[in-house]
Amino acid sequence: MTRHHLISFQPSGKRVPTAGRETLLQLAHGAKLPIESVCGGQGTCGKCRILIPLAQGRLLPPTEKEISALGNLIEKGYRLACEMVPASDLTCTIPEASLVSGQVILTSSNCRPSRLKPDIMDFSLEIPPPTLSDPASDLSRLIRAFQKTYGRQVREIDTLAMREIASAVRSQKGRITAFLWKDRELIDVRAGNDEAVFGIAFDIGTTTVVAYLLDLRSGREVSVASAMNPQVPYGDNVISRITYCLEDEKGLEKLRSILLALMNQLIDRLCQKAGIKNSQVLEATVVGNTVMHHLFLGLDPRSIALAPYNPVVRSTGPVKARDLRLHISPSGYVVPLPVKAGFVGGDTIGVVIATNPHRKSAMTLAIDIGTNGEIVLGNRGRLLCCSTAAGPAFEGGHIKWGMRATKGAVEKVEIDPATLNVRIHTIGNRPPLGLCGTGTISVVAALIRARVITSHGSFNPAVSHPRLRPGDGGTEFVLAWAGETGTKNDLVITQQDVAELQLAKGAIRAGITILMKKMGIKKVHRVLLAGAFGTYVEVQDAWTIGLIPSDLCSQVESVGNAAGAGACLALLNRDKQAEAERMAEKMEYVELSVDPDFNELFIDGMLFDAPVPLDKS
Ligand code: FES
Repeated sequence: MTRHHLISFQPSGKRVPTAGRETLLQLAHGAKLPIESVCGGQGTCGKCRILIPLAQGRLLPPTEKEISALGNLIEKGYRLACEMVPASDLTCTIPEASLVSGQVILTSSNCRPSRLKPDIMDFSLEIPPPTLSDPASDLSRLIRAFQKTYGRQVREIDTLAMREIASAVRSQKGRITAFLWKDRELIDVRAGNDEAVFGIAFDIGTTTVVAYLLDLRSGREVSVASAMNPQVPYGDNVISRITYCLEDEKGLEKLRSILLALMNQLIDRLCQKAGIKNSQVLEATVVGNTVMHHLFLGLDPRSIALAPYNPVVRSTGPVKARDLRLHISPSGYVVPLPVKAGFVGGDTIGVVIATNPHRKSAMTLAIDIGTNGEIVLGNRGRLLCCSTAAGPAFEGGHIKWGMRATKGAVEKVEIDPATLNVRIHTIGNRPPLGLCGTGTISVVAALIRARVITSHGSFNPAVSHPRLRPGDGGTEFVLAWAGETGTKNDLVITQQDVAELQLAKGAIRAGITILMKKMGIKKVHRVLLAGAFGTYVEVQDAWTIGLIPSDLCSQVESVGNAAGAGACLALLNRDKQAEAERMAEKMEYVELSVDPDFNELFIDGMLFDAPVPLDKS
């Protein structure tokens, strides 16, 4: 008989039996304890750290991965949940910083449609009753009334709308409201004058999901709802999610169903808040990177992980909501914006149709930074795009004390160049738990300005200070001492952390340089920073670390959640959907890895530019 052990997770107190086959990470996820797992349980990110009192149980010695990821934290009782398969009863504590929790989610889309032209239009009709001399069917009389009143042809009718006709035409003396999709398909029929028609625009990010409820008659944003992407515990980046699909035969269906469940919850939440029925939502648009696009549609994403990184499909066109099990009106439509390539998705297309570089003569550089950095460069003549494998450093990943932008994350740091005194600002004004992406950039920028970090990224050997000390993997700088932090450990930035940031920004800089070279230009007229990172990062910090070339800085503009704005615009104006399809065709994709100059530019891009004052004129 299999002997079961009992695992107790603190501080929640949840107890989980195990036969000793699953890792602590799997057990925690099974118990709905969302431990971070940036690498998807590969033992490389170090984010699933848990505390196990040293004197406890029959613990196997730390694995090589644990030693590499945790260093001297092992002596304090830290272990990696993804590496530990418990062989006895165990009590462990999940530190706050290891839990996936309420990240600050950027919801402002700045969506301002210049024109309303939704797919769905409502029409009030009076349907005459049948007579013995004209015993035409209800549908025939409805089609005739349409033709007579509005001069329009109904070419198709959804089965569910057909089922509504009989009661609708009889309950209010033949007065009905009919809803036509793209001027051809009857998708809803309601008794009387019920013209309310809504749509929902989804922005599915790897980390967060945002949903906007829009009134399709007025274009008004009724409300917004957002949540963490429930796939996060299965890996913080798209490659980990693909790996999960490859390793578990039910992985794709699982990732799709938990995403869908969340989207349906967001729909319910939005509808309840607005006091409307789900059936009054007749269309949804969706933007997301190519992996999110595929997982939402239930398409196998494995080809995206392997050269030449092609998607299964680039454009699906509209899909019936019932086919996707999305809980808006089943006869309504879902319009996923098309993707361009394996790593340039519908979110980038959304940024393009929201910011319109293709309509202007000014040369525009749009950068959307997440785990990957998507870059678009061009104007009305030509548009280029690429994706850079920036890595997770900009989201706090692969940084020793990196974390998401949640409460307790350091978001800004000031360092006095004379004394090296540190002033820390955290989200929620909590004692610091770790560094989010913008916090990491702020620290490195402050250390560059204080000349503690050299242009090559190494700690300056000429600086001697108690905060600068040898650590596990080289020199480290202490930002806060154990007594000042929420983890009761010294909060440090290590040489390895700086190197991770250099890799990330080197990739972005190389991408910018290659696109400018391909375009044959030396200057751009405007730089747009999209997404949460682009909204919260201080431009001066981005410039100090050399993320943006210094001569472009005065034209930098933050454009908020431009991908989400693109989804909203596509919902409110069908011409924008057509524009998205055209852009997905027309934009030229540049594969950086095959550019002969990439390696050299990447290495150059890792250097920090000399810190001189920023000209804000
Ligand atoms: S190290 Fe455990 S999930 Fe990454």
